[in-house]
Amino acid sequence: MVSQVRGVQLARLLGQWHALPGRRRSPDYAALAGAVRGLLADGRLPLGVRLPAERDLAEALRISRTTVTAAYRELRDSGHLASRRGAGSWTMLPGTHRVAPNGLWIPLDDRDMLDLGVAALAAPPELLPAARAAAEDLPRYLNGAGYHPIGIIELREAIAQRYTERGLPTSPDQIMVTNGTQHALDLVLRLALAPGGGVLVESPSYPNALAALAARRARITTHGLAADADGWDADLLLGTLRQVRPRVGYLIPDFQNPTGHLMPAELRERLVATAHAVGTDLVIDESFVDLPLDGTDLPPPTASFDRHSRVVSIGGMSKPFWGGLRIGWIRSSAPQVQRLAAARVGVDMSSPVLDQLVAVHLLDVAPAIVAARRAQLAVQRDALLGALAARLPEWRVTRPRGGVTLWAELDGPISSALARAAEEVGVRLAPGPRFGLDGTLERFLRLPFTLPVADLVEAVGRIAAVRYDLDRAGQPRWREPSVIA
Ligand SMILES: Cc1ncc(COP(=O)(O)O)c(C=O)c1O
Repeated sequence: MVSQVRGVQLARLLGQWHALPGRRRSPDYAALAGAVRGLLADGRLPLGVRLPAERDLAEALRISRTTVTAAYRELRDSGHLASRRGAGSWTMLPGTHRVAPNGLWIPLDDRDMLDLGVAALAAPPELLPAARAAAEDLPRYLNGAGYHPIGIIELREAIAQRYTERGLPTSPDQIMVTNGTQHALDLVLRLALAPGGGVLVESPSYPNALAALAARRARITTHGLAADADGWDADLLLGTLRQVRPRVGYLIPDFQNPTGHLMPAELRERLVATAHAVGTDLVIDESFVDLPLDGTDLPPPTASFDRHSRVVSIGGMSKPFWGGLRIGWIRSSAPQVQRLAAARVGVDMSSPVLDQLVAVHLLDVAPAIVAARRAQLAVQRDALLGALAARLPEWRVTRPRGGVTLWAELDGPISSALARAAEEVGVRLAPGPRFGLDGTLERFLRLPFTLPVADLVEAVGRIAAVRYDLDRAGQPRWREPSVIA
């Protein structure tokens, strides 16, 4: 955990902090306080961190110390900062906030918010019948203690069969059931990565994976993805692997979050070969693999090129089915699964039997559910693209061939300012820098197409309105002529 943030670090995170909407043009101290609140709300500034001394921040931002003093006072008044004389000021949140599903902090009373911060669908209609059928099955398990550190056999069989059908022969003892993909990643990292170990990740990448890596104090190297359809640059990616030789590579080749990119088969093969040659274990996150759109053909699973048990695949029920199930999995070698189980008993012992049974019933009818999901997502994606083309034509967007998000390149480094402004008109956004490490990616915004069409169109309308406000804020309202004659 970071316990103190220095002036230059906070200045980097704050980026364009003064770019606030013209209508609500506020004094600098209020804009600064608002920007710090924005960083806290989207998790880029952790709770309990000591902020820089006022003089240090004033120097880093090249503003007067009185402005920083006034901003800190406002943050104290709003419950975002606690200060003790002589000891400094720590970030906190008012008691009226809670953490949202995406890790963002939200006020308790904002039920009407259009939430484009979460990239996940509501449950399918098949969920309730599956839950009822699972309850009927439960008696078969009630005579045992209920602990299954690698998961109940029926679910491991169903998951293994799905890998086998994708061309990756898999036996149930190569599968470990977890409480979601995020849990799977955490467990794999516990085993594969000593604190401070080197990891290669894509940039942008999934923020909660970056959080899991930060918790391991990983030394992170990034591979920058192009915003256009190509995504990965093969030579650069493999060159970085050879040069840095990280302990672990964490990649999302199947409809990458947030860009939606799909890694071609040839690069998968070269990636696995290079990782093996340099001693890197690959953790391949397949969260979105079930969601190709427009009949897009999937390349073979990345692990199908693995001859040396260097590739661990993780996936789960959250994206094709429902996040509330909290069922994910790890596919690895059978001995590695046993090692993971040993690590797991020190954490959470086992996943709930009832939820695993629900997953079994959902996987039974997966083809129908997934087909309906894909059709729904394609319609919603096209509606989102249409609304963006109509209302924000300057933004550059590549049409994703799968997954649930698109990655928009904005017409300026305004992502955080836009997210703060959108919040005020009832739209929650996850700004670009949340998907990176160092406060960059301000020119980008992730937009999920998981909400109904009407909500997406409404959200884009509101975003467009505040976008044009940002422009007005940047322009002086009236220029005094230099000579009056
Ligand atoms: C790439 C990626 N990995 C993992 C997760 C977490 O999934 P789960 O709900 O299965 O823990 C998500 C959720 O958005 C994701 O996008």
